[in-house]
Amino acid sequence: KCCRDALPSRKPRRMSSRPSITFSKSLPAAEGGTLVVLTDQTLALGAAATGLGIADLVARAAAAADYKGKLLGTLDLLAPAGVGAARLVVVGLGKAGDLKELDWSRLGGTIMGALRKGEAATLLAERPDGVDVSPAEFTEIGLGASLRAYAFDRYRSRPKDDDSATKAAPSLAIVGPGAGKAKKLWPARAAVAGGVVLARDLVNEPANVLGTLEFAAKAEALADLGVTIEVLTEKQMKKLGMRALLGVAQGSVRPPRLVAMHWNGLKDGKAGDGAASKPIAFVGKGVVFDTGGISIKPAGGMEDMKGDMGGAAAVVGLMHALASRKARANVVGIIGLVENMPDGNAQRPGDIVEAASGTTIEIINTDAEGRLVLADALWYVQKTYEPSLIVDLATLTGAIIVALGHDHAGLFASDDALAGQLLAAGLATGEKVWRMPLGPAYDKQIESKFADIKNTGGRDGGSVTAAQFLKRFVKDGTPWAHLDIAGTAMGSPQSETNRSWASGWGVRLLDRFVADNHEG
Ligand code: BES
Ligand code: MN
Ligand code: ZN
Repeated sequence: KCCRDALPSRKPRRMSSRPSITFSKSLPAAEGGTLVVLTDQTLALGAAATGLGIADLVARAAAAADYKGKLLGTLDLLAPAGVGAARLVVVGLGKAGDLKELDWSRLGGTIMGALRKGEAATLLAERPDGVDVSPAEFTEIGLGASLRAYAFDRYRSRPKDDDSATKAAPSLAIVGPGAGKAKKLWPARAAVAGGVVLARDLVNEPANVLGTLEFAAKAEALADLGVTIEVLTEKQMKKLGMRALLGVAQGSVRPPRLVAMHWNGLKDGKAGDGAASKPIAFVGKGVVFDTGGISIKPAGGMEDMKGDMGGAAAVVGLMHALASRKARANVVGIIGLVENMPDGNAQRPGDIVEAASGTTIEIINTDAEGRLVLADALWYVQKTYEPSLIVDLATLTGAIIVALGHDHAGLFASDDALAGQLLAAGLATGEKVWRMPLGPAYDKQIESKFADIKNTGGRDGGSVTAAQFLKRFVKDGTPWAHLDIAGTAMGSPQSETNRSWASGWGVRLLDRFVADNHEG
């Protein structure tokens, strides 16, 4: 009785349902509900909105509220006279000519954020400057709205804001001439939203619910989408000599797992060589909880370490997105799942372990565990799949938060072309990366008195020496990038498209990276 989990006896309830996002060419005849229209910095409306005879109403409300139509600014009119809608929401586009691709998902997020639970809204997706809103822009609105609606509230036994009789998510109908094509494009964007939501759920889940085995099971569920899954047990990893990863896991009663997910999206290609082409690889740190081990962390904020599997969550979310939208690429995702605990059997500072690659590592600090997990995961992906490139993601160092804060992840790359592609995908999706240095000069800091290398390099340049450590496990000539996402995977500032502690960071970035550089 003493050791029973607090939650599993009763299936946790999920309070929020997913929002309904639909596309339609014309305004439904039904009265009531909420009407959303777009304006610009001159307070002009589009043709359809003007046709509804609301221009004067909007102008007077804007004057009263000192509303200027700036980008993502909203003006709320309740029970507007002479309009069928119960509520009219005006959303600003600023100078419409200056709109960037990313603004459309931010717009969708802003609109969803203005809606209450169960509210049914219709957006007239038209620009006041007469330029057509493209079908792709329709779907970006849908993506942003969908991501904004996410809330991790399955463990509340009653809603936090009991302001609504309904638990249903809002619904948003996006209306305009682009809707027909948007409807066809939408499943691929919804796939990405699904991947982000999956990653957020994994990071938000507490570690008593989501241990290594439970996480592995979530990854295995991707088999339903046509992903080939392979799960290595402790015994198999022992046989392969993965003692760096196993050393981290040995203090926990939760057994380690290494999961390989393979999406072979080129297998049906007519060229025939598609299936044979080497995959691109994504590797994620999956520490389901990081106490620090024997080098135990201070108590303050330690609960955040349930999110130390943010890299693995992003890889699973990405594979979900790619498989759901049937991406035309060969992609392998590898995650190393362990729990870092203090224990009578835990790894000690001073221990020396031999990684599967043969490199020996002196453990200086058991809290620098992520690099040990990745060392063997990186070796395994190269040995098994010979990938044409590798991108790893890890909540690896507190030092990257000191360096970059929460608005950029750290990018360390052995290859300038790969770095450029990731930087571009970051700007396009808003999941931005900032390039940090690598270089042999940093190797001195991780030289060990007793082994080939040690697992910490001191305070100075802590994120760089961590990256330099990883580099020792990547074959020369394989383009490789490391993303340190400690500052972006969780606890980052809330945005138009995310109100959750876990951001799902990396899914949109890498989906875009794949789409732009490795498909078709
Ligand atoms: N998981 C942590 C890094 C981290 C810190 C992630 C804060 C998210 C938020 C990592 O395993 C760790 O403990 N790193 C140490 C390394 C040090 C011992 C060399 C750190 O950053 O202090
Ligand atoms: Mn740690
Ligand atoms: Zn960690």
